[in-house]
Amino acid sequence: MTQEEVFKKLVAHCKEYGFIFPSSEIYDGLAAVYDYGQLGVELKNNIKKYWWDSMVKLNSNIVGIDAAIFMHPKVWEASGHVGAFNDPLIDNKDSKKRYRADVLIEEWCEKQNEKINKEVAKAAKRFGESFDETMFRQTNPRVIDIQNKISAVQQRMVTALEENNLAEVKQIILDCEIVCPISGSRNWTDVRQFNLMFDTKIGSVAEGANTIYLRPETAQGIFVNFLNVQKSGRMKIPFGIAQMGKAFRNEIVARQFIFRMREFEQMEMQFFVQPGQEIQWFNHWKNFRMKWHRALGLGDDKYRYHDHEKLAHYANAATDVEFQFPFGFKEVEGIHSRTDYDLSRHQQFSGRKIQYFDPESGESFVPYVVETSIGVDRMFLQIMSAAYAEEQLEGGEQRVVLRIPAALAPIKVAVMPLVKKDGLPEVARDIVNKLKFDYMCQYDEKDSIGKRYRRQDAIGTPLCVTVDHQTLEDGMVTVRHRDSMQQQRIKIEELQQIVETEVSMKKLFEKLMD
Ligand code: GAP
Repeated sequence: MTQEEVFKKLVAHCKEYGFIFPSSEIYDGLAAVYDYGQLGVELKNNIKKYWWDSMVKLNSNIVGIDAAIFMHPKVWEASGHVGAFNDPLIDNKDSKKRYRADVLIEEWCEKQNEKINKEVAKAAKRFGESFDETMFRQTNPRVIDIQNKISAVQQRMVTALEENNLAEVKQIILDCEIVCPISGSRNWTDVRQFNLMFDTKIGSVAEGANTIYLRPETAQGIFVNFLNVQKSGRMKIPFGIAQMGKAFRNEIVARQFIFRMREFEQMEMQFFVQPGQEIQWFNHWKNFRMKWHRALGLGDDKYRYHDHEKLAHYANAATDVEFQFPFGFKEVEGIHSRTDYDLSRHQQFSGRKIQYFDPESGESFVPYVVETSIGVDRMFLQIMSAAYAEEQLEGGEQRVVLRIPAALAPIKVAVMPLVKKDGLPEVARDIVNKLKFDYMCQYDEKDSIGKRYRRQDAIGTPLCVTVDHQTLEDGMVTVRHRDSMQQQRIKIEELQQIVETEVSMKKLFEKLMD
């Protein structure tokens, strides 16, 4: 199965089992907007809890807030979003499809890279054991030629975007002979900038009402509350403010399911530090955030950093944590050293002094900020992509299993009476009634035990508990583990402990503290 086929299956699986539905589906959906179903919302809440607790509970110098989505319009002027939160767009006149011009160019570069990889693979086959890939890449004339072309195009694009030279961006597309993937033609419009913020009117009448924006990031709610939190919480630098919440971007090229949405959720933490100490803290958060991802056990080789060479004008260091999705390595989280840009801009635009008074040195200063910013939905997709597996079992049977990390699984325990009679359902319900105070449980009595196991595998339930006739005599049940499919016989009183050991988030948190 190709990765594309795996991804299609995953999307269908998410719908079939109640994880994610297209928004307003009975009206044919709304592009790049999705609803989380009954299991999706559980997984999403668990992801958020894992993030929130790892920030706010484990770090005594980080506190949380929940700011409003609507903010004063000046916030977005100060942050630079009104002027510069744009995508360069281009339309194909034949297909009438719209594309991000920079993405078209990046995809062209990726294709050139694939050509290089093919050359390398061919040579590796030809030379066998003695093949020296580094040497080949450095000396093969064809590889060097392609690499030079890529570098030149990338450099041209960076300069053109920096200078907002949209005619040059179009020229790069023409020079690279990039065609529309739908029409196959090179009949392009000019490139123009398109602001990604949604706007609406505040007030009961539209006339004379103010235009306000749906926030495109949660971070600004933290910056404008810096003094409120610092003063009311008597916070001492270095300290952090964390927030989770919805953000909105009018993404033009919305693709890859929940990877790029118009309405999505972010989990952001701004860490305020003394000027001069930001790089040390940047490195700290860079390491900590990678640890957080890896603790889930989805595979260390599935992550990599992408350090930014071209930095935004306000940043002095930036990296992305990338995850290997079925469609390649892509960003799930950004870690940015944002200097004092945001607080200084708000100071300037609001006319209020936004500074920290250091009682030790007796000096006031605008703190520097290190930000960690991750999308909940991308995190969700990361987990589902790594979890989805189709397995061939002994005896020719097949199963689809979601190997979701147990601490994040939507349902922790399924309890099943072997048959729907002889007092077994009563015992099973009794077990659910005890466990449900601490864990999401499901009671299931329909179909054969085998079919019930398959259903639970398909939604990622780590533990199934079966009550049979023997249970009535010895008070013991069978516990079946999702990943190994191994079964053990234990006393009902031991269940709580076994479930706790298997699904507790504590183990994840302990890994972060190593
Ligand atoms: N405050 C910084 C900020 O917003 P960003 O790189 O634009 O930085 C941070 O976004 C994270 O938010 C991304 O790494 C991604 O996980 C998520 N994100 C951004 N745009 C998204 C979209 N359209 N759909 C889903 N997630 C998105």
